[in-house]
Amino acid sequence: MTQSFYGRTGTPRGRSFNRRDFLKMGGAGLAGAALLGTAGCGGGGGGSFNGEITLGFGREPSGTLQKLIDQFNKQSNDIKVTWRPMPSDTGQYFDQLRTQFQAQDASLTLIGGDVIWPAQFAANSYIIDLSDRFTESMRSKFLQGPVESNSYEDGIFGVPWYTDAGLLYYRKDLLEKAGFSGPPATWDELKEQAQKVMQDEGTKFGFVFQGAEYEGGTVNGLEYINSHGGQVLDPNDASKVTIDSPESVAGLETEYSMVADGVSPQAVSTYAEPETEAPFLGGDAVFARNWPYMYSLAGTENFIETDLIDIAPLPAGEGGESVSVPGGWNFFINAFAEQEAQDAAWEFVQYMTAPEQQKAYALGGSYLPTLTALYEDPEIKEALPVVGVAGEALKNAIPRPVSPVYSDMSLKMAEEFNASLGGDTPPQQAISTLQSELQKIADQAPS
Ligand code: GLC
Repeated sequence: MTQSFYGRTGTPRGRSFNRRDFLKMGGAGLAGAALLGTAGCGGGGGGSFNGEITLGFGREPSGTLQKLIDQFNKQSNDIKVTWRPMPSDTGQYFDQLRTQFQAQDASLTLIGGDVIWPAQFAANSYIIDLSDRFTESMRSKFLQGPVESNSYEDGIFGVPWYTDAGLLYYRKDLLEKAGFSGPPATWDELKEQAQKVMQDEGTKFGFVFQGAEYEGGTVNGLEYINSHGGQVLDPNDASKVTIDSPESVAGLETEYSMVADGVSPQAVSTYAEPETEAPFLGGDAVFARNWPYMYSLAGTENFIETDLIDIAPLPAGEGGESVSVPGGWNFFINAFAEQEAQDAAWEFVQYMTAPEQQKAYALGGSYLPTLTALYEDPEIKEALPVVGVAGEALKNAIPRPVSPVYSDMSLKMAEEFNASLGGDTPPQQAISTLQSELQKIADQAPS
């Protein structure tokens, strides 16, 4: 695995915003208050630290995170980490965090946070710059894409924990029975294969994915758009929204056709990741789009065995190619926490991102490591074919826009993509609306 992760050159990286500019933006009053508060708060250190730190993080269905926390607590004399479960929906988690930060709340010392958050949190000084701790030489051992996703202006605001790529899960056994020699390379092929298997084998659903109105819905919509050759932002000028193109419309048309052609259930427009697991791993769907974590859930509870499933890169659109929208999670340290708590959090971050723990996390929950060397680890390669496929998928990745206004852009995309998938808005209209609405949001960000 090389530095080519997230590797498209010319990928829109968003403009760089400086803090003063950001404060000029609408609704930034609280951010300003938070900034002023930081000086007297983060790093203050009132001497009350008792060694207990709290990690905020959403859902972890394999149980591996708690095991690693327990192991850390057992071997550490003076630091005790408690995990406070946060919403599994990344947008809801973000909103909750933003409210806490605005109140200068330091109860979560450490945050396991989404790759799309650093720009917004860093611009508001909610999380600390780790430049002095996460040194250049440490960074060089990590995949470049995830490191970049934590960089904002001249700082580095998070340490990559695990990375994510959207993947196509498929039922090996059912495709074989139906006479297909491999997974589909295009969305049209996926529909053909799904329809044949549904007909021959009576499988209930062809394809399940995340179509609900939330961040995952944005990601799925973007995968259709990108795989048809559409792009939200101009690769050469990230201040310019370019979503209004025939390619983007074709992308949303393909997404809608999954439901219209009976390949996906209508309810897919309400599905997030957990709702995707049940039909696919319960044996009711031929294909699913999900992140690598779902692989480790096969064979557990009443779910189908691992040997019945396989994974492949996502299909390409007509005239396009397979594109992945990278996801992933990082560790951020709360700027309002006292210095001693921040130091303790840093200890835990180093432990969690060390090769042993990243390997355990990969083997336990099929999460993609962020340390480059682990992609050559024989045990991981053997146990987790998903790591190799995802590694390849990430080489052709188009990240979500990097911007302090990304959360607003995403809310709009989630809304329009969902309306298009649900048949309430024609794809062309959804795309035209997004062109103007996204440009308005992007324009709020000063040059
Ligand atoms: C996964 C990804 C994350 C993304 C989320 C959407 O957790 O890692 O980046 O935002 O899914 O549901």
